[in-house]
Amino acid sequence: MAQERVREVVEALVENLRGVIRDKKVNYDEFHAAIQFLVRLGDAKEIPLLLAVLLEATVDDVTHAQTKGSTTTIQGPFHIPGAPMLQAPYKLPRRADEPGDLLVFSGTVHGTDGRPLPGAELDMWQATGDLPGKYSNVHPGLPDYNLRGRFVTDDQGQFSVETVVPAQYEIRKNGPTGELFELLGRSAWRPAHLHFKVSHPDHRTLSTQLFFNDDQYLASDAGNAVKPGLVIPLVKTEGEDPPGFRATYDFVLEPS
Ligand code: BEZ
Ligand code: FE
Repeated sequence: MAQERVREVVEALVENLRGVIRDKKVNYDEFHAAIQFLVRLGDAKEIPLLLAVLLEATVDDVTHAQTKGSTTTIQGPFHIPGAPMLQAPYKLPRRADEPGDLLVFSGTVHGTDGRPLPGAELDMWQATGDLPGKYSNVHPGLPDYNLRGRFVTDDQGQFSVETVVPAQYEIRKNGPTGELFELLGRSAWRPAHLHFKVSHPDHRTLSTQLFFNDDQYLASDAGNAVKPGLVIPLVKTEGEDPPGFRATYDFVLEPS
């Protein structure tokens, strides 16, 4: 980051924090408690988590206010670069006994001019299907890159991938972020969701999430990431063996 920009942002940040100290008459006990909290946050490796839940939605808003592509939302703290590149027919890596209902997610990627984009890359990740959902490479006990993968659209800009329906996610209660949420009386739950980073040469990479109709946490998402247009139906596949669900979405990328 350019030195001038760092100065501009950090000086504004410090000035705003000093304003809060003056307004609220923050005392020494509170100041030391804040320091202890930040030390614990770092020790627990929860700095990315807390910044994602408190601030990332605002960064997304100011960054993408003018976008003509699909609705964006926060990437969150659990993206891991370098997920396996899948071969068609696409199936996110999962355990032999992976809990959850089967989900076939399909759609297209096209540009803002309406033309399909063959060879667009979708980087997809999600929580497990057992409640509360867990992320591989983050929560212990899961194989690396479980329910994470990358795949590309075909000649028509279409894709289809098999996975499981993710469960709702809860920020763990026994860490500093969960404790803060408890103190604030805020729900620590996120509605079930799928994450995507969609990229194509000469187009801006799209980071977004998709949620499902009727999830009880849509209106109280701890990540503040739900937006109209990102909530899609889960359609039960009748008469198929094993039974499961289908969902579709068409991603629109804007030129870079
Ligand atoms: C998530 O995308 O799963 C997430 C986002 C913000 C905070 C915690 C989790
Ligand atoms: Fe997530």
